[in-house]
Amino acid sequence: VRTAVVWEILRGVLAEQAGVCGRAELDVVDAGGGTGGFAVPLAKLGHRVTVVDPSPDALASLERRAAEAGVRVHGVQGDADALLDAVGTGVADVVLCHSVLEYLDDPAAGLTAVAQAVRSDGAVSLLTAGRLAAVAHRALAGHFDEALRALTEPGGSWGERDPIPRRFTFEDVTALLAGVGMRVGAAHGIRVFADLVPGALLDGEPCARQALIDLELAAATHPVLRDVATQLHVVARR
Ligand SMILES: C[S@@+](CC[C@H](N)C(=O)[O-])C[C@H]1O[C@@H](n2cnc3c(N)ncnc32)[C@H](O)[C@@H]1O
Repeated sequence: VRTAVVWEILRGVLAEQAGVCGRAELDVVDAGGGTGGFAVPLAKLGHRVTVVDPSPDALASLERRAAEAGVRVHGVQGDADALLDAVGTGVADVVLCHSVLEYLDDPAAGLTAVAQAVRSDGAVSLLTAGRLAAVAHRALAGHFDEALRALTEPGGSWGERDPIPRRFTFEDVTALLAGVGMRVGAAHGIRVFADLVPGALLDGEPCARQALIDLELAAATHPVLRDVATQLHVVARR
């Protein structure tokens, strides 16, 4: 449920990019790809995947996960804003930047590197933390002061205990991408409802899970609902 909509979008991005490139196997760079939650399935689909991540532990887990899946993923230790040192300029058909932007000290610098790593007709899949969802989630949990901070503080953090240092709106993301010379395409809200639904409603209920996925797919492009999603996804091109 948590990743179904992202994979649906990603499959479309990969198919379109395969058409642009005239080949099915794409060069994919996963900036901040961590333990390979996206990278390993992409490698299983036949793509050549490089993960760049500063965490040696994550890269070790990535290596194990790839070995268990019987695929090879190239892991490189490095920060997103030094992506070009790790992979070079204009090399990737697709760059993933999933759940990373919110952790960067300088998101614009990170996105500059992401934009330069992608080839001129390539695509960027950007997934990041949505600000308005944090406001709603803190308020629904009865933490109204934290909800107010998430709404009004620069950066959208709800306080010192917030594990996510920064959150974005679609306007923020669009402005950041435009600032690094990228054209913003499709925008989707990811997990509009999933994080609000008690797990007990889904446990052992495949029909309910599928119905929630269908609802998420419809809500992802709704002009109002997508803005309150836990994560915001944008496809961008150079
Ligand atoms: C929430 S995980 C996301 C992992 C993966 N992208 C995914 O979606 O499953 C965040 C990842 O960002 C990485 N990270 C943190 N700071 C980073 C930086 N400055 N540059 C690149 N990656 C970073 C972490 O090591 C971690 O693997």
